[in-house]
Amino acid sequence: MVEDPGAGIDRRVEWVKFKSIMDREKNIHVLLVDDEDHFRSTLAKRLAKRGFITQEAVNGEDCLAKLERDPRDIVILDIRMPGIDGLEVLRRIKASCLSTEVILLTGHGNIQEGVEGIKAGAYDYLTKPIEIDHLVSKIGQAHEKILREDEKRREAEFKARMEERMAACERLASLGTMATGVAHEINNPLAIIKESAGWIAQLLKKKELADMPRRQDFERAVKKIEKSVDRASRITHQLLGFVRRQGPVTSEINFKTLLEEAVGLANREATKKAVEIQVDVDPPPQAIYSDPYQLRQVIVNLLTNAIHATDAGGKIIISAREGFEEAVIGVSDTGSGIAREHLERIFEPFFTTKPPGEGTGLSLFVSRGIIERLGGTIEVESRLGEGSCFTIRLPRCLRIGQGEERLPEVNGISFRDYNNRERGDAHDQDTD
Ligand SMILES: Nc1ncnc2c1ncn2[C@@H]1O[C@H](COP(=O)(O)OP(=O)(O)OP(=O)(O)O)[C@@H](O)[C@H]1O
Ligand SMILES: [Mg+2]
Repeated sequence: MVEDPGAGIDRRVEWVKFKSIMDREKNIHVLLVDDEDHFRSTLAKRLAKRGFITQEAVNGEDCLAKLERDPRDIVILDIRMPGIDGLEVLRRIKASCLSTEVILLTGHGNIQEGVEGIKAGAYDYLTKPIEIDHLVSKIGQAHEKILREDEKRREAEFKARMEERMAACERLASLGTMATGVAHEINNPLAIIKESAGWIAQLLKKKELADMPRRQDFERAVKKIEKSVDRASRITHQLLGFVRRQGPVTSEINFKTLLEEAVGLANREATKKAVEIQVDVDPPPQAIYSDPYQLRQVIVNLLTNAIHATDAGGKIIISAREGFEEAVIGVSDTGSGIAREHLERIFEPFFTTKPPGEGTGLSLFVSRGIIERLGGTIEVESRLGEGSCFTIRLPRCLRIGQGEERLPEVNGISFRDYNNRERGDAHDQDTD
């Protein structure tokens, strides 16, 4: 018989394609299912020679049992077999092994069975006697299909994960907006309660009330009111992020001054706990413009957290250095570290692992809001029992909108003004 030369070229093209698949994804696992021992074992040897990892099954039951134990990529399945026939085996494979492809082997002149097989989900069918190269290229194509579907599945999973994260972010953003709105509304009544409580406390000290029945009970109650109002104010102030009413200030950042000042604010607590804070500044050679007030608040928040998490004798390193087109500020500690299941939650509002009444769970939420508004990012790496490292990346200029950058002095305040401002102003910005 004269072979069609075109068919030869087609096969060579298929073979080249198949080779590239084999190179990309070695170890294709093939299960050969045929009740004719000689045919099956010869085919298995020839496929093994071409680099496939083969396994044999003598009938349908054997095939299903082997697949259950050890799923395969491709099943080469004889249709005519004693016991469960090939088509039934195919249906069961398709129902249970989603990523397995089946190539059917039909008897000569039995196209109908092959067509039925394709309808039932077979990748393709070949008619016996089969030509090994043809089978090999079919296996290659079937495997390519598996890889494609795998990719699609991974993409769909990734998309679903991203959508879930986006939804969570949106939920957080609206929660944040709502919380900030509530905080704003609550601030005024809190101020009035505090003032009124102070007034009652003063009244109680007056001579004419010296003999008032249960005066001490009233005094105790007023103290409780004042303490609770202070706590509530801490929460609202955190939520509002101490945003300066006149909007962000932009000036050239002197990292050494900024970090030392933040350390100065946190140092008392660190010394009390016998935790050492080391400042390590390698100032970026190029100027960075941002809002020093808000940056300082974030750094103090991070330092406070680090001090809380670190035992006596522990160490905190706060650093600033030049990154790629940005400045990088790091706050690392040798403290307790953060459990993996908490890592994703620490930036959520009100997430805290501190005992009730001790932490508001807002510092990191507010800090991230500030850094994002300054056009930067804040990330954390942590190992339980070893410590944590928070990294802030800041752009060279404070980016306000797309393509718009706030340049130094635009707001009329320079870094010198910032350094020379009154201490009261600095205190006004402090947290915790
Ligand atoms: N450096 C750190 N080491 C270990 N855990 C940390 C660290 N920083 C933050 N955390 C964890 O993240 C949680 C949230 O921190 P966040 O600063 O937002 O709130 P908080 O410290 O609990 O309360 P507050 O709002 O009063 O600061 C903390 O309760 C703690 O579990
Ligand atoms: Mg905190």
